Amino acid sequence: MSAAVRNKYRRITTKVLVDMKANGEKISMLTAYDYTMAKIVDRAGIDVILVGDSASNVMAGHETTLPITLDQMIYHASSVVRAIEKCLVVVDLPFGTYQGNSRSALDSAIRIMKESGGHSVKMEGGKEIAESVTRVLSAGIPVMGHLGLTPQAIYKFGSYAVRAKEEEEAEKLKKDAILLEELGCFAVVLEKVPAQLAEEVAKSLTIPVIGIGAGDGVDGQVLVIHDLLGMTHEFSPRFLRRYLDLYREMGDAIKRYITDVKTQDFPNKEEQY
Ligand code: KIV
Repeated sequence: MSAAVRNKYRRITTKVLVDMKANGEKISMLTAYDYTMAKIVDRAGIDVILVGDSASNVMAGHETTLPITLDQMIYHASSVVRAIEKCLVVVDLPFGTYQGNSRSALDSAIRIMKESGGHSVKMEGGKEIAESVTRVLSAGIPVMGHLGLTPQAIYKFGSYAVRAKEEEEAEKLKKDAILLEELGCFAVVLEKVPAQLAEEVAKSLTIPVIGIGAGDGVDGQVLVIHDLLGMTHEFSPRFLRRYLDLYREMGDAIKRYITDVKTQDFPNKEEQY
């Protein structure tokens, strides 16, 4: 979003995002999980911070997003909320807190809104979770959908490969996207699906479609901040553009610090009381 357009809004709201799509203004979204990072991301001018359950991977070192708990998501989200001034904060409902039981979906979403101060929640899935989405929305809690590669279902998929390449899965995804819009979601994330399909979905909806590995025909993009900054150097999917090589740069800085301590170069006379 250009500074001029962004300055029109005091806060980025779910309605602003829908207006941005209508005006052809692309939406920028990044993950953040802590106060310091969220402050940098917000002040840089991002439209949306996603407190993703990818915290399970990049913050806690788990192989999948499944182990992260609701309490842990609330901890990350409240740290982010304390840092931000302008962007919209979306918080992932973690695995096991909404699938199959709309009452627990509502309870989980209410806890996130009340205890973290986040502005909205994200839920993975389509028709299967329609009842939960409806119930959360009925409490006045904005919901972002998430289709395509939904990492909470990784054991069903069996791999992190591109989704919906086959006709049947593509058709289901298109129907699910329309359903999520009809239910009242304010946006949908499409993860790792063919660009042509993602563009078709974006054109068929009035709510924004935010892509990750979904090409350039959607209404906005999201990346995991640790990937964009090059902190997760072992992870290199085709869709990822790294803007820094922080894994190397941070390692070099830490090595210099260690050398300075060992050689008694640090602290020098000016760096003490
Ligand atoms: O948890 C997350 O970081 C996500 C993004 C990959 C969209 O859901």
